[in-house]
Amino acid sequence: MSEIENLPYKDKRFPYHNAYIDYWRKSVDNIEEFWDQKARELIWYKTWDKVLDSSNPPFYRWFVGGQTNINLNALDRWQNTVTFNKVAYYWEGEDGTARVITYRDLYKEVNKFSKALIDLGVKENDVVTVYLPMIPELPISMLSITRIGAMHSVVFSGFSPEALATRIVDAKSKVLITADSYPRNGKPIELKKNVEQAIMLAKNQGVNVEKVIVVKRLGSEIPFTEGRDYWYHELVNKYPDNTYVKPVARKSDDILFILYTSGTTGKPKGIMHSVGGYMTYVYHAFKWNWDIRPEDVHWTFADVGWITGHTYIVYGPLMHGATEVMYEGAPVYPAPDRPWSIVEKYKVTILYTSPTSLRLLRQYGDDWVKKHDLSSLRILGTVGEPINPDVWDWYFNVIGKGKCPIVDTWWMTETSASMIAPSPHLGLVPLKPGSATYPLPGILPDVLDDNGNPTPPGVKGYLVIKKPWPGMPLGIWGDPERYVKTYFSKYQGLFYAGDYAVKDEEGYFWLLGRADEVLKVAGHRIGTIEMEDALLKHPAVAEAAVIGVPDPIKGEVPIAAVVLKTGVDPKDDLKNELIDVIRKTIGPIATPQAIIFVKKLPKTRSGKIMRRVLKAILTNGPVGDVSTLEDPTSVDELKRAWDEFK
Ligand code: PRX
Repeated sequence: MSEIENLPYKDKRFPYHNAYIDYWRKSVDNIEEFWDQKARELIWYKTWDKVLDSSNPPFYRWFVGGQTNINLNALDRWQNTVTFNKVAYYWEGEDGTARVITYRDLYKEVNKFSKALIDLGVKENDVVTVYLPMIPELPISMLSITRIGAMHSVVFSGFSPEALATRIVDAKSKVLITADSYPRNGKPIELKKNVEQAIMLAKNQGVNVEKVIVVKRLGSEIPFTEGRDYWYHELVNKYPDNTYVKPVARKSDDILFILYTSGTTGKPKGIMHSVGGYMTYVYHAFKWNWDIRPEDVHWTFADVGWITGHTYIVYGPLMHGATEVMYEGAPVYPAPDRPWSIVEKYKVTILYTSPTSLRLLRQYGDDWVKKHDLSSLRILGTVGEPINPDVWDWYFNVIGKGKCPIVDTWWMTETSASMIAPSPHLGLVPLKPGSATYPLPGILPDVLDDNGNPTPPGVKGYLVIKKPWPGMPLGIWGDPERYVKTYFSKYQGLFYAGDYAVKDEEGYFWLLGRADEVLKVAGHRIGTIEMEDALLKHPAVAEAAVIGVPDPIKGEVPIAAVVLKTGVDPKDDLKNELIDVIRKTIGPIATPQAIIFVKKLPKTRSGKIMRRVLKAILTNGPVGDVSTLEDPTSVDELKRAWDEFK
């Protein structure tokens, strides 16, 4: 098949690697046969009539006619096996409290909570919003919701009330699960207070949240509305330990969950993942990434509020009967060795985190690491941003003591699980620091130029996925057109990831960051247009442009150039107000590093802001051709404002 001929390449030095390339080629040559076999490793109520329905591209449907429930594979399958007595979660609170939860405990709790949800009136296909911190009730809620055939929409607990309201309204979600408060850097975060505000905001936009379930975490004083609010523990404790709720048989192409992510417009998009496709792809990717063994202790140091947590803290580990560590708090609280003390305490064998966390931890020096016995580690993983080669070296040598392969996983909310990543089996995929290496079996990526031709080795282009895979989205909630436009219109029929990439002479993929108006700030995905929309809400702002500039720890940080309305005084207080607007609309993760006031923004004659020019100035790079600018003096003014700021 011509499109895979040169991708990836064989390398005579590594016989196992060549075996892998043969295996991979076979898998992408006939994806239906490959995924048919893979899906059979899982439990289904009914197997499918058709592996892949391509009749309405790009709305591909996997395992059509099949029926299952992800609980069958994550929980029920472990009954009457040794895994039932095994630890599912070692949970560690930021304040040092700890909980050990076995598969049996989890099964009991999920059944009881499923029953409680049914008795509260939650029905199949309802969307339940989950706004919880990193506590065990978060996976418990997700499993209970999917068990009864409803869908979860998990909203990261660091998002603001407004961001929560936007997601509740878009999903028309009437039931919300939250907590009273939780600790972050030693201080309580009042989550329920955020919820009260969000419910008001949602109500003003026509969506009435009818039931709120509250988990007690810190026991703080909270507003409580009788008849609407319920304590989680009171609900669950009503039912006996042997409560059983049969997992609802869902169609393979039903929606398993929605997860909102940022794109190139102001409105976050609800990515919909499918019951059978997500389940199959995640099971397969988790196995590939970690070569998981019964004795492993796996720790994904990330938040369940993002896709990384959905897949690598909840569904992936549970479908493999693995033991997962779940840490609630901030990375350097109370001291910069917190993560290393967790590795030592639970004898973590596989650690998976982001380059941002590694850069943060590295800056405190190696002595914090050396205080701890990290000899249990056997594999290290990374995700979310490109990893700088020097950070890779530190991870490999200082954390892994030169013994642990580094599994650099490229993927995104839309893909369900990793797509380009090595297997840690020795020699299957030789590593190169900074490269996510090769595609997983069944995945066919490529790098294309603007005309849709594959780029030669070493030449930068855009990453695409050329064939459907089971973990692909069903679409965008309520907006099928946006799904087609965002992912399948740049290159007709191919999935456009929005990332720059390059292949090298040996066919390795190197990911080079976003190619659109999306930033990765400390690994979090934030749309610059979302931030600009937030700024425009302030009465003093006439125009705003947000761009990302490199940062040694966070990878990238946002800077906003703002044009004020005539007559407004550009004083420093106003800068704080503008920063506050962004924090309130999105959340503290989107806090801009700087706001600079200018008289005009660099724009084309048709009024389009030239982000390229802005970026060049704010990163002190060459400005290049400015002949299409409406007013070239805007460049000098911006340079002056930036110099003053620096
Ligand atoms: O730019 C890529 C970057 O993260 C983006 C996806 O973000 P999100 O949907 O939040 O998912 C993050 C966790 C899967 C991608 O478009 N990205 C992710 N992994 C890598 C990466 N960039 C480089 N190397 C990676 N390993």
